[in-house]
Amino acid sequence: MAAGHTFEPRILGFLCDWCCYAGADLAGVSRFQYPPNIRVIRLMCSGRVDPAHIFRAFSTGQDAVFIGGCHLDDCHYVTHGNYDALSMVYICKKLLEHIGLNPERLRIEWVSAGEGIRFANTMNEFVPRIEKLGPLGRGEGIDEHELTFKLEAVTKLIPYIKLVQSERLRVPDRTEEAYNKFFTSEEFNRLFNELIGDKLALSQIMALLRERPHSTSEISAILGLSPSEVSRHLNVSARNQTVETGTVDNDKIDRIINKHQGKAGSLVQVLLEIQHENHWLPQEVLDRVSKKLDVPLSRVMQIVTFHKTFSLIPKGRNEVHVCTGPSCYVRGSTRLLDTVQNLMGIRPGETDPDSKFSLETGSCLGCCNLGPEIIVGGKHHGRVTPDKVKDVLKNYE
Ligand code: FES
Ligand code: FES
Repeated sequence: MAAGHTFEPRILGFLCDWCCYAGADLAGVSRFQYPPNIRVIRLMCSGRVDPAHIFRAFSTGQDAVFIGGCHLDDCHYVTHGNYDALSMVYICKKLLEHIGLNPERLRIEWVSAGEGIRFANTMNEFVPRIEKLGPLGRGEGIDEHELTFKLEAVTKLIPYIKLVQSERLRVPDRTEEAYNKFFTSEEFNRLFNELIGDKLALSQIMALLRERPHSTSEISAILGLSPSEVSRHLNVSARNQTVETGTVDNDKIDRIINKHQGKAGSLVQVLLEIQHENHWLPQEVLDRVSKKLDVPLSRVMQIVTFHKTFSLIPKGRNEVHVCTGPSCYVRGSTRLLDTVQNLMGIRPGETDPDSKFSLETGSCLGCCNLGPEIIVGGKHHGRVTPDKVKDVLKNYE
């Protein structure tokens, strides 16, 4: 875009107090010149930046977001928060790319307290780059209305994305090389498309349909998807009866909430019952519980992300747990798991396209002398051989 001299990018910076903030301070004290486009939020560690902060910044009119932390391996906390920030930035860049925004609008840099000049140089390079890209959305040829619903679609998925980040996109080695290698690999692209890309596309389609009815060709033109992709997403959604189609039974949810309202421990009870009824906890249900029980959403999220019982992603009607504990292992649970995976066509942690089964593995299920053991829909089945498992599964709808 020919931005000329009139476009002044708005940039929001999240700077770690220990290093980058001190570096920025030093740049100021030392009178190193850099464009004054950045507004700064000071945090104790770059690892405290959440994807929700980034997309909120974009939704409220920032043209770019800058995250500054201590150099890798120099984070002041044992958690090495800057590695978390790095993986989060890789994922958010991919999300930006998926909704048609230039990923260069998000940048992370490591600046120590003594590197005032490095901070100034980074800004001297970053600000003109964003000027060249133009205002958020307009620079990419996306109109304001389209930009709003695309950012909304991402924002709605953030709890799910964080879950995927912690459970499926974790890099075992905390080294810069290992992080860069994983997040630029084909494997990461595959996992992203499989676990997040499809959901994001569906979330955007639903955001459009909530506004008014659109034809498949209209949706495909707006989202840049092929008509067959749009149909595929809609079919999967309809088949799964997922929340995006508006099929969560709010009356049932309200009955559960009302039954426990005012009693001690009501929040956990309500969540457990909804999980049992609905098999997972969609965002709109969590919002409803938080509002009706008058409990902050952050408290609800704390509970559902802590206990393994709760799921923030859709689950099948029947959960299958294959025991991989030591007794079952020596009795052939590996072959049993292979057979179950082949029969269902899914791997542990996944749900089949008909939402009939979700597959999980787990350590000892408590009946070692009956191993190899599986639990299907809460019912224990012992001494299940690969030959027998087909007969067990066919009893479930
Ligand atoms: S304290 Fe600076 S990045 Fe963690
Ligand atoms: S090891 Fe499988 S039930 Fe104990």
